[in-house]
Amino acid sequence: MAQADLSVGVDMGGTTVKIAVVHGTELIYKAEPLHTPDYGTPEALTAAVGARVQELQAQYPAICAVGMGIPGFVDHDRGMADSLANVPGWYDVPIRRMLEEITGLPAAVDNDANCMAYAEWKLGAGKGLDNLVCLTLGTGVGSGIVAGGRMLRGSIGAAGELGNLSVDYKGRQGYYKNHGALESYMGHRRIQEDAFAAYQAAGTPRSMEDCAPYPLELAAKEGDAIACAIWDDLARKLSCALLSCHYILNPDAFIIGGGVAKAGDLLLTPLRQYMKEQMYAPHFERLKILPAMFSNDAGIIGAAEMALLEKDCPELHR
Ligand code: BGC
Repeated sequence: MAQADLSVGVDMGGTTVKIAVVHGTELIYKAEPLHTPDYGTPEALTAAVGARVQELQAQYPAICAVGMGIPGFVDHDRGMADSLANVPGWYDVPIRRMLEEITGLPAAVDNDANCMAYAEWKLGAGKGLDNLVCLTLGTGVGSGIVAGGRMLRGSIGAAGELGNLSVDYKGRQGYYKNHGALESYMGHRRIQEDAFAAYQAAGTPRSMEDCAPYPLELAAKEGDAIACAIWDDLARKLSCALLSCHYILNPDAFIIGGGVAKAGDLLLTPLRQYMKEQMYAPHFERLKILPAMFSNDAGIIGAAEMALLEKDCPELHR
């Protein structure tokens, strides 16, 4: 395999850090994931990631770069991570420099949803399109934007944080005290808690476990009225966020992935319908609303691909 072909992708989440050797869209080898809460500081976690990467380098000498997606604000150009909603203690962390020092490899770092968007744009459902918004609906709700054929990162890395977009100015407060943040309704745990409360209020209590998005999807598919209403409301809220996004960015496509999006058409069909009802018809006709191509691996693939590209074009991020 050519020297330039292999890179390591790291996808950090609130629960696990997934690490793999990547070639294109293929995960050649998945290392044992790390359990994020086991590492109390950015230094400890980065050291553990670095140790894993060094083991992989010994096995695969053709590895020539490492890319890492991080679930919070990442200033890609400066290589800094700052404030992660689901991982305490990450403030102004020079994560790219730390990774490069430990591994001896050129590194690229970005927000985890940006990495997912990068994978879908370069290699997945958005290939060939110049204007994209890719969303990941999981524990956190995040997104990455491609505008005019470039990743849109904003001045300090806060662009494309769609989970913070308000769908209700009187709504619940989000992590940064913003009212009605999409993530406050569509995050995995919030769906579960809201479903639990809805079943209780209806006098048909269900266990918390049975209120997670997947059992809720099965219940809706069996015609359970409460579950159907929950998915319908989620589609409405998502349509509200995407409509605002359409008028800011006018993308060619919205690409939707992450664990909650595994519900597929249960979410996408009403979402398309609500978008259609509220958009100028010629705009809607040209808009694609697509499921993501790479489900759980998108972040790893995107981080690895970004690292490979930037290794050869460091002006892209320095
Ligand atoms: C964070 C985003 C992240 C998303 C998905 C949200 O809580 O604010 O930065 O992309 O979760 O992990």
